[in-house]
Parts: sequence; structure tokens; C-alpha cells
Amino acid sequence: MATPHIESKKEDIAKIVLMPGDPLRAKFIAETFLEDYKLVNSVRNILAYTGNYKGKRVTIFSSGMGNPSMGIYSYELFHEYDVEEIIRVGSCGAFREDLGLYEVLLVENSYSVSNYLLELTGEEDKILPGDSTLNQRLEEAANQLGIQYHKGNVFCTDVFYNQVDIPQLREQYNCYATEMETFALFSNARKLHKKASAILTVSDNLITKEVTTSEEREKSFNKMIEIALESIK
Ligand code: HPA
Repeated sequence: MATPHIESKKEDIAKIVLMPGDPLRAKFIAETFLEDYKLVNSVRNILAYTGNYKGKRVTIFSSGMGNPSMGIYSYELFHEYDVEEIIRVGSCGAFREDLGLYEVLLVENSYSVSNYLLELTGEEDKILPGDSTLNQRLEEAANQLGIQYHKGNVFCTDVFYNQVDIPQLREQYNCYATEMETFALFSNARKLHKKASAILTVSDNLITKEVTTSEEREKSFNKMIEIALESIK
């Protein structure tokens, strides 16, 4: 059963999916953490792999960048492939000085001015929560692994080169960081009665202007992946 964007057979997609933005990260995760994995999608180079992590079946499916791309893939995974849970594993730009490079942020809510939900369902909500059951499991996994994390909201933007009021987003909406995919993911989960959450690594700090190199980013990324994989039930 294929869709316009996904060539996978239905049985080749697990019920639980981790979604990094970058296709090469999906490959890296499969090669580094999974056993008996196989490539299950390469349409448009949106690479996806299904394999086992400690005996649990999981699919790593790249989302591409931004709400429209995440919106397409997560919708089709939920709706056409009967996926039950999606955890976004991505990067974010920090809005707070005390959220350092490589630190991990568990997303409580996604705030956005995007019209994604409005166009999807007609609802006007601009703040959508991550699934509380998944977040609880992610917290338990982080605690068991002894990995520190922050918990807060993100500002999900459609415009990477934007000129938003960061202090206002921080104060009014408790936004710890910005990224570009959670709002579409959480909107699809709401519409389709599925579970979605997000755990992010800080790749740049918009206050201190620090940035990571791509090599450093890859290494720090592993902590977040371990949390997500260990949270799978
Ligand atoms: N803006 C938007 N998305 C991001 C950023 C950013 O600075 N860093 C990582 N994802």
C-alpha cells in the first residue's frame, strides 16, 4: 500500500515511528542503533528504515524540513500506515541563555501562528500539546539513562529567517526554543486521534549566538535518540 509520497509496504512500517528532519540522520540512527534494519522508503530521498531496538520494532522516518513536509509524511503514516505513535527527534534554536548547545528539550506545547491546524480541521487553536503519555515515558527513559533535560514550549515557525519578538514569545508563551515541525505533527495527531511528541537537541542559541558544527551535532544527537528509543513500549 503506497501513497503519493511513500513507497513502503504497510507491513514494513512499525506502529511506533521516530522522525528526524534530516534523511541522513535517519540512516545514521538505523546504522548506529538498530538491528536487522532495512530501507523502507527512498522516494524523494526521504529515507526511512525499519528495524529492532532491543527487540522492539521501530521505524525511523525522515520528515524533511518545515510543517508542510512533516505534515505530509506524518499524516500518511498515521492515516495510511496505521502508525500509533510518532516521536519527533530534531534540533531547535534556543531562546534562553540557560538552554545550552547540545542540551535536550522535551516539548510540552507547540505554539505557532501557522494556519496548518485551521486548514486541516477548521480549529483556531495556536497552542497544541505533546501527548502526555509519551512525554511521561520520555521522562522516565531520560531519568533511567541519567540524561538531564529541560521541559518547555517551542515556537514552531514557518519562516526560518523570521523577525519575531523573542522576549515576548518567551514571556507570554513560555517558549524555550524554536523549530519548524511540531505544529503540523501535533495537528495531525489531534485530527487522527493518535499520539505525538517531540524531543529536541539545541543546535544553536539565538540569544548567545553560539552554533554547533555538523559533526558535534551528530554526537550530541545520540543522547536524544537513546531517550526516544528507550521510551518505546
Ligand atoms: N530556527 C528554526 N528552526 C530551527 C532553528 C532555528 O534557529 N534551529 C534549529 N531548528
